[in-house]
Amino acid sequence: MPNPDPMSDQNPAIHEKQYASNKWKPPVSIRPTRELLEVYDRWIARTAERRGARMLILGSTPELRDLALAHGLVPVSCDHSPVIWESMKALMTQRGPEEFLQVNWLEIPEAHPYDLVAGDGSLVMLRPDQIEPMLLKIAKLLAPTGAALLKVGVRSRPFAPKDFTDAVAEYRRTRPPMSLHEYVLILVTELRSDRYVDWTLRELWERVLFAHLTPEEIAEVRPCLLDARFYTPTKADFERMAAGCFTVEQVVEAKGPGQWGTTHLYVLRPVIAAGG
Ligand SMILES: C[S@@+](CC[C@H](N)C(=O)[O-])C[C@H]1O[C@@H](n2cnc3c(N)ncnc32)[C@H](O)[C@@H]1O
Repeated sequence: MPNPDPMSDQNPAIHEKQYASNKWKPPVSIRPTRELLEVYDRWIARTAERRGARMLILGSTPELRDLALAHGLVPVSCDHSPVIWESMKALMTQRGPEEFLQVNWLEIPEAHPYDLVAGDGSLVMLRPDQIEPMLLKIAKLLAPTGAALLKVGVRSRPFAPKDFTDAVAEYRRTRPPMSLHEYVLILVTELRSDRYVDWTLRELWERVLFAHLTPEEIAEVRPCLLDARFYTPTKADFERMAAGCFTVEQVVEAKGPGQWGTTHLYVLRPVIAAGG
């Protein structure tokens, strides 16, 4: 599904600009938390026991590539930006054979089933209407005994600008070990998805949120602003869409600073599998 719009979120150049503006470091709050890494680790270890097992990563996530290599799996990363895939190596601790697929996730060839498909915050990059087709695509990419590990934001409550001002007050009081922009990134994504779905994250900050910050805070946040339309569905919508092609085996919530009770790691088993 190529999208010709140069400002579209489906354009790799937009993602490269975002990573470059943050010196090629993904924001702290969207990294997998320690608890989630333990879940990923268990599933990857279990999969690696299977002879010839194959693992697909939606994106270039360095932590998932590290875990695969540590367990002797060759991670197949799918990213429409080879620049990002290459640059993420600087954040990895393991070295070993890796494969790279440069294609839009929605167009990944289904010829060779995978035992594990992992996406750590990947679906947030898609338009709302692409989430259900992507879930079906993942189910079709999996072997019948395979599993999908998807960390996703799922909204189970309404979000309002007051949540943002409360979060900023908490940030000023507690000074967590991340920038203000990273601290509220997930919250602002939820707010956008809930109430301002026509705007980019930058537009939401500039039109609504800056009014609640000091000039110093605005100066700090402004260079980090993203022309992105990150989107998270409601929990009910996500689970309804997933139920079309998966059963839910496990759900673990991401906890800690910068998480807002919405990010969950879903372990899903396909009911429609490879070629189905
Ligand atoms: C997986 S996502 C989210 C963050 C991710 N956890 C990470 O480690 O960076 C970011 C990556 O997905 C890639 N990407 C976004 N949409 C894509 C799509 N439709 N097809 C292929 N790659 C995509 C971007 O180029 C970027 O490298």
